[in-house]
Amino acid sequence: MDMGINKKDREKITQGLSRLLADSYTLYMMTHNFHWNVKGPMFNTLHTMFMQQYTEQWNALDLIAERIRALDFPAPATYKEFVKLASIKEVDGVPKAIDMIRHLVSAQEATARTARELFPVVDKANDQPTADLLTQRLEVHEKTAWMLRSLLED
Ligand SMILES: [Fe+2]
Repeated sequence: MDMGINKKDREKITQGLSRLLADSYTLYMMTHNFHWNVKGPMFNTLHTMFMQQYTEQWNALDLIAERIRALDFPAPATYKEFVKLASIKEVDGVPKAIDMIRHLVSAQEATARTARELFPVVDKANDQPTADLLTQRLEVHEKTAWMLRSLLED
């Protein structure tokens, strides 16, 4: 195949997108976990908010994985690979609602960092579709991190 990006660059972009997919999947799972297990006086707000977030994240997984396929590399799709590739650590047990929010802020910010790290490679290779996808994901993760952070402030 030849779409104007050499194989070495496509491979490098794919490696970054695979890390983004792993962080996105881990964040998705954490958010759905907290949707199920949240307790306390903020139950209604958080249960609903987490559902909106994990639904958006679930749809984004497909876009990231299919961009990897369009670059002609296999998309990682097992828990084993995701654990290895992710920068986000999974949370054990059931944290208090306020700690769930803190975990999600960190995970949103970590996912944004993983997306941002890939820009220099993508820019150099003139890969606009990946740049566009990364921009969209950054916008969502930064906005969601702000909304979650706001819950922690007086
Ligand atoms: Fe539900």
